[in-house]
Amino acid sequence: MRTQVGIIGAGPAGLMLAHLLHRSGIESVVIESRSRDYVEQRIRAGVLEQGTVDLLNETGVGERMQRQGLVHAGIDLRFGGRSRRIAFDELTGKHVVVYGQHEVVKDLIAARVRDGAQMFFDVTGTAVADLESDRPVVRFRDANGEPVELVCDFIAGCDGFHGICRPAIPEGVLSVYDRIYPFAWLGILAESKPVQDELIYANHERGFTLISLRSPTITRMYLQCDPEENIDEWPDERIWDEIRARLAGEDAPDLVPGPVIQKGVTAMRSYVVEPMQYGKLFLAGDSAHIVPPTGAKGMNLAIADVKVLAEAFDAFYGRGDSGRLAAYSETCLRRIWKTQRFSWWMTSMLHRFEGGAFDHRVQLAELDYVTTSRAASTTLAENYVGLPFE
Ligand code: FAD
Ligand code: PHB
Repeated sequence: MRTQVGIIGAGPAGLMLAHLLHRSGIESVVIESRSRDYVEQRIRAGVLEQGTVDLLNETGVGERMQRQGLVHAGIDLRFGGRSRRIAFDELTGKHVVVYGQHEVVKDLIAARVRDGAQMFFDVTGTAVADLESDRPVVRFRDANGEPVELVCDFIAGCDGFHGICRPAIPEGVLSVYDRIYPFAWLGILAESKPVQDELIYANHERGFTLISLRSPTITRMYLQCDPEENIDEWPDERIWDEIRARLAGEDAPDLVPGPVIQKGVTAMRSYVVEPMQYGKLFLAGDSAHIVPPTGAKGMNLAIADVKVLAEAFDAFYGRGDSGRLAAYSETCLRRIWKTQRFSWWMTSMLHRFEGGAFDHRVQLAELDYVTTSRAASTTLAENYVGLPFE
């Protein structure tokens, strides 16, 4: 088989890239190791930056998001037993939209199907080769176990943090920048009425908690926990009690416990590789970088990368200009590092660390400053709604 761009991974990065390339008349094939059903049900991110929302709308895949997405014009920061609001609209004129990542994935797959695009789900044994040549190849077995060789002009490694593309780059090429945090998030999805319309990020001596939502009847919540936490030791009741304890104080939100329909522990890590390209292979999204979820940035960064990459392919195929492809990594990394900084800062300000009482006092002072100084609130707001695309 032959294509212009072979795309590995049907997450937000791979699917959005295929969609943008199609709009430029560039052919691609997407291959994915999971089933279509699995990627459409996988619960992950939920907050879309204004730029992500605009891109989905402008390219014709935002219709369902416009109907079902929830516009959020601010968040609450809760500390010292009370909540203070950061008003995004007032400070930046922008907002975010709460709409599940798996819903974005469903909309993008529907668009690929409508456009008659080639996608292979349930593949096994994916491998890439000849990355330095003019004919890089992707090899895999399709859902029937038949071997397929896909010869490409370029390969896009959109296969997430545990994919095979980044490890296919020879040793010594990539620089790795990494930070592992000494805690994780226990996340739940529950059939319970959200306690309020907007998200609550709470700093508490017992640890961080985040109250989010997916719809008027579904609540999404996270608790800071140990990275080795055994989920079996967290029956529903214990989760609700712990969240309630971490929200205690003035105007404590009134939790209405309901059936927990999903539970999981997510590790917290900051990670970047440089450069994001080797020969004809381009890395995008989580395959090149991950952020701790406190800033709600992972999916948005993935979308920002593939916007830059699609424009670079468009310049190459449309005008024979390879300058933008050559600059891909540098262009993306400028924004990625600013977003890494924001995610690290939010994580540092909101979680409980081992530093003890002094560090906690400094966190409270910082939260007090951030929520009372217009300059500091604006800094948080403009990063949260999303820095401009490069
Ligand atoms: P992925 O979504 O990981 O997609 C990669 C795809 O490649 C997968 O479908 C995988 O199955 C496939 N694949 C892997 N290996 C192979 C192979 N060998 N062959 C073929 N296919 C392969 N981000 C936000 O922006 N906002 C949030 O609020 C937010 N909250 C989060 C909460 C949680 C609990 C978690 C876990 C993440 C959160 N994130 C958030 C991060 C966000 O989900 C990721 O950054 C995002 O999924 C990255 O998209 P991607 O397409 O790069 O990678
Ligand atoms: C979510 O709703 O899943 C969510 C919201 C905000 C975050 C992380 C996750 O910072």
